[in-house]
Amino acid sequence: MLDSGVGGLSVLDDVRGLLPAIDIVYVADNAGFPYGTKTEMEVATRVCALLGRLTERLTPDLIVIACNTASTIALAHARAVLDVPLVGTVPAIKPAAERSKARVIGVLGTEATVRQPYVDRLSADHAGDCTVLRHGSARLVELAEAQLRGAAVTAADVAPCLAGLTGQQGGERMDVVALACTHFPLLEQQLREAAPQLDFVDGGPGIARRVAHLLGGRGQEGSGQGRALFTRDDEQVDALAPALHRYGLTISNLGSR
Ligand code: DGL
Repeated sequence: MLDSGVGGLSVLDDVRGLLPAIDIVYVADNAGFPYGTKTEMEVATRVCALLGRLTERLTPDLIVIACNTASTIALAHARAVLDVPLVGTVPAIKPAAERSKARVIGVLGTEATVRQPYVDRLSADHAGDCTVLRHGSARLVELAEAQLRGAAVTAADVAPCLAGLTGQQGGERMDVVALACTHFPLLEQQLREAAPQLDFVDGGPGIARRVAHLLGGRGQEGSGQGRALFTRDDEQVDALAPALHRYGLTISNLGSR
């Protein structure tokens, strides 16, 4: 599983829940963090090169790109160059539209994700009768990373990020928000507290089902081990160790300090 940082842990949690026995290598490309403020070219090049190297080294049965930014930009490129089943994480616009009564939904992602044509297509295909509001927040990504390093994050901290959606025209009628960045479900409790009138959905459960389907019987094999690899070794990684441990991951390093 690959993300720029700890966001993919929200996906890992859902996958683990369904497939407790599989062995998972969680890769955080912290040397490339954050993806959401980079150009399409930078993200696509980086993700494809990294996945190529990791595939050779780890020979996985399946790869999950546990990152909306990387998936909406680079999924097609990665599929073209890799010979391994690949599951992407794309904004949960379909489940959001299915739940919305007001027919106004929000897409809260990174700045890079919310400008992708992929989001236009998902909106047209699955939310054609909805108003789809979008907002990109790099701040919410930072807050999720800080929380996993042990910082206290409050509803008041996340509220300004939500205001980017609720403050738009039609935002007062919005009833469902797709958390279109894998970092954001890590802050779901604070988001719910900041906006109790809103329902939040993310792609994690759907990805877990897709992984289980693709792995078939192999999804029951393994010893339930988890390793976390970082592309750069620094003191922030040390600070993440207790949280990673709670997700059943031990740290081994790809990069050097
Ligand atoms: N977790 C990532 C996503 O789902 C990106 C965060 C970032 O690196 O900006 O979009």
